[in-house]
Amino acid sequence: MYPIQRNRRLRSSESLRTMLHECSLNPNDFIVPLFVIDGKQKKEEISSMPGYYRMSIDLLPKHIKNLWSLGLKSVLIFVKVPDDLKDNKGTEALNPDGLMQRAIKTVKDAVPKMVVMTDVALDPYSSYGHDGIVEKGNILNDPTVNILSKISLTHAQAGADVIAPSDMMDGRVLKIRELLEAENYVNTVIMSYSVKYASGFYGPFRDALNSAPNFGDKKTYQMDFRNRKEALIEAKRDIKEGADIVMVKPGMAYLDVISELSKNVDAPIATYQVSGEYAMLKAAAEKGWVDHNQIMIEQLISFKRAGASLIATYFAEQAVKLI
Ligand code: PBG
Repeated sequence: MYPIQRNRRLRSSESLRTMLHECSLNPNDFIVPLFVIDGKQKKEEISSMPGYYRMSIDLLPKHIKNLWSLGLKSVLIFVKVPDDLKDNKGTEALNPDGLMQRAIKTVKDAVPKMVVMTDVALDPYSSYGHDGIVEKGNILNDPTVNILSKISLTHAQAGADVIAPSDMMDGRVLKIRELLEAENYVNTVIMSYSVKYASGFYGPFRDALNSAPNFGDKKTYQMDFRNRKEALIEAKRDIKEGADIVMVKPGMAYLDVISELSKNVDAPIATYQVSGEYAMLKAAAEKGWVDHNQIMIEQLISFKRAGASLIATYFAEQAVKLI
């Protein structure tokens, strides 16, 4: 009790504060999302994500070497698919020589030790912009899951280390795991976007890949943001189905969910600080209303404090330069 105990004692010097801090950031914590396009020497800034770019595949080797030299250990690949290659059955997603499969090889050739993660979902390949096959306005679960497992196999064959299904279909982790095992990809990691909410925070990402749904929304497969118990159900089922890492997405508005999972599941937890979170900070900082770097680090630390061990973030490169 005061004055025998004073909370401020341990805050009284920089050295004490540094010695006693509970959480820190390390380059190993980060996953760097990459937006890859076809073509040559193309680097296009995403208008709603200032300072973040879509990049043609030929620019990847230099970029990847640079990320590695900063201590970053993993990238998460997304591709932007031209409209004429989109359909309702993921044909291009299965192409062993498709942009994703070539991007995986390119990254692995540039820096073999870089952990290559791939986003698995149909939306960038879908003429409807949905994560599954569409029939009469419905998103079909089981036929989609079949295709997702085949897509995942092409990623593993191209050299992906980690398959990250982001579609929120039921049972996809099991199907992917079974196929990978059957084909002897026994060490391919599955990082499931287990707890992915139907969120307004994905807007800028959908601009980046031109992948917004052209009818309806994603609420029949992505989670209702009013729910927390459901998060545990999703994560536990995915782990049973063979997921090695479970992810919570978006990040900032879902710290309670990260914390809940970190107390209740044994698998490592990743979180994804998504495009809208990036855009909001950039916009406020551009206006001069907040201190960009202070808030960036504060938010990233909050994920660690909540219990995440991996953070997918568009700030990775900037953050490692500060820590
Ligand atoms: C695709 C996918 C999305 C994101 C990652 N994978 C968008 C969506 O589900 O609509 C969002 C990432 C971000 O906003 O940064 N299934």
